[in-house]
Amino acid sequence: MRTKLVAGNWKMHGSLAANAGLLQAVRDGATGKAEVAVCVPYPYLAQARAELDGSRVAWGAQDVSEHAQGAFTGEVSGSMLADFGCRFVLVGHSERRSFYGDTDAVVAAKFAAAQTAGLIPVLCVGESLAEREAGITGEVVTRQIDAVLANSGAGAFARAVVAYEPVWAIGTGRTASPQQAQEVHALIRARFARDSAEVATGLRVLYGGSVKAGNAAELFGQPDIDGGLIGGASLVAADFLAICAAA
Ligand code: 13P
Repeated sequence: MRTKLVAGNWKMHGSLAANAGLLQAVRDGATGKAEVAVCVPYPYLAQARAELDGSRVAWGAQDVSEHAQGAFTGEVSGSMLADFGCRFVLVGHSERRSFYGDTDAVVAAKFAAAQTAGLIPVLCVGESLAEREAGITGEVVTRQIDAVLANSGAGAFARAVVAYEPVWAIGTGRTASPQQAQEVHALIRARFARDSAEVATGLRVLYGGSVKAGNAAELFGQPDIDGGLIGGASLVAADFLAICAAA
């Protein structure tokens, strides 16, 4: 049985003052069965560690360099994230792919770099609205996964998480229906099953895209949805905790 995971992605939001209350509320309120994590902006990793260390809430970052170290101004390595106690790191979020040029090859390299540093990568995949309307959702998601499989192999996914985030549902208030999401989650799991039945069975596939307290339970009730990657609602403690409780 896969333990559900609910991960907050704060994106570029927060301040020391605002985070303190949010982290404390999540730490004290995350009491359900699901594993809970927050992925915070880099400058707040030390604060997340200070507030969450010893609690059942893990923390992580939203991106990682594909390089181990060196002359890469502005970049942050996996070992630096591990130094701050990160358990998770997002790789290939659609905002990285579309605004910062993270190609499938770069995402595959970041995934490998994260694992080398001992982090659990959360590989984000998902199609744009145009791709969905063109009927190529499966093709797009499979291509994004295959790039990582070709580089790291299926075995690497025993220590990884996949997040399906349809781009058209991110921050738009437009959620994939539970049936739409389940269909893609099943396709993702089937892709892994081609390489390893064991990895496919154990792999957690999260859904992300306008998850709210009101729609979380139905989404998480689908057989292949193992929790959520939560953007906007992760910034409001009561909303995030209600989503965690639904898992
Ligand atoms: P929203 O929950 O704000 O739609 O964001 C989803 C997301 O991108 C999480 O990574």
